Amino acid sequence: MKTSASKISSFFQLVANYVEEKDRLTPTLTVNYKSPSELKKLIQLEVQEAGISESELNKLIRDYLKYSVKTENPQFFNQLYGGFNLPAFMGEVITALSNTSMYTYEVAPVATLIEEELIQKMCTITGFSNGNGVFVTGGSNANLVAMFSARNKAFPKLKSEGIYGLPVLSMFVSEEAHYSFVNNANILGLGSNNVYKIKSDAQGKVLVSDLEKKIQLSLDKKEHPFFIAGTAGTTMLGAFDPFLEMAEIAKKYKIWFHIDGSFGGSLILSKKNKALFKGLEKADSFAWNPHKLMNIPLVCSAILVKEKNRLYHNLTDLHDDYIFHDTESGSCDLGKKSIQCGRRVDALKLWLAWKFYGNKGYAQRMDRLIEMASYFEQL
Ligand SMILES: Cc1ncc(COP(=O)(O)O)c(C=O)c1O
Repeated sequence: MKTSASKISSFFQLVANYVEEKDRLTPTLTVNYKSPSELKKLIQLEVQEAGISESELNKLIRDYLKYSVKTENPQFFNQLYGGFNLPAFMGEVITALSNTSMYTYEVAPVATLIEEELIQKMCTITGFSNGNGVFVTGGSNANLVAMFSARNKAFPKLKSEGIYGLPVLSMFVSEEAHYSFVNNANILGLGSNNVYKIKSDAQGKVLVSDLEKKIQLSLDKKEHPFFIAGTAGTTMLGAFDPFLEMAEIAKKYKIWFHIDGSFGGSLILSKKNKALFKGLEKADSFAWNPHKLMNIPLVCSAILVKEKNRLYHNLTDLHDDYIFHDTESGSCDLGKKSIQCGRRVDALKLWLAWKFYGNKGYAQRMDRLIEMASYFEQL
């Protein structure tokens, strides 16, 4: 298909019509639900030998939108979404239009500087004054990188020699923590049975006494406790764990302390609710997911670590000079601290939205979310 300005503008007309339709706030518009067998009949899913015409292509796009859940509609109340964000949407489109990859400065000069700027800003807000971070493909993977960082810090030789001959590495997460921790224990070769689940109170907060008890239990078994995770906004109850006390225990036993802020982490932008994060600055890493409360389109997620060079140390020293070079701009290459090679520009949409609304706009948004949650609780 030949690209022309008129085709692009008719495509954006279709997008505009879709957005306007949603703005009518008709509840039925949030979902036009069909069962899998019904949907298979309504949409021509199979890719065939011959291609399709432009009008057929447009029909597929319309059908896709027609039967998809309209998560941006203000009437949509399923979990963890944050509504429609126009500057962020624009950033998403520009990311696809400019279609570059975050591995080197050479191929993504502006995006590299934007990501670095945001990472530094987020580290400062977190209290990691000398910290570092990288955008990742979601909160689950942010938690994975945190665990990987903790594991490699505890056993630096592990990255070349593997886990063979090491003691059992144990980790401690709340029974209310996100399921990704258990999955990640499997992915990292640590074993899901070596994840100790800490009891929580009626509000869903970790019981610190149980945390210490379980660490002792693990030590008695001659295991090596390497990772504790707290949560800023648990998935079920939105609970914030007692970070300060957890950090003290982590320090006492020399264990990496991570805070999973995938859901509630963005509330740190609210001055009124800052107390929820007491102790965060004592953590070693923080997962922050702007694709939830900051209403940036999926995926937009960062892992922040207190130790500046940890993310580089994690990875095998790279001498792949087909891509990375020892030049001035090469020193800015973000690919050297990411487990991905090709990586989307997820920072642009966040940067545009944050520039547009400002710290103030986002602080107001967070305050409003807490107000609404309190109102709902009262009801
Ligand atoms: C507390 C918490 N951690 C992690 C995640 C996973 O984040 P993601 O869906 O971006 O992988 C979620 C998602 O709901 C969550 O609520």
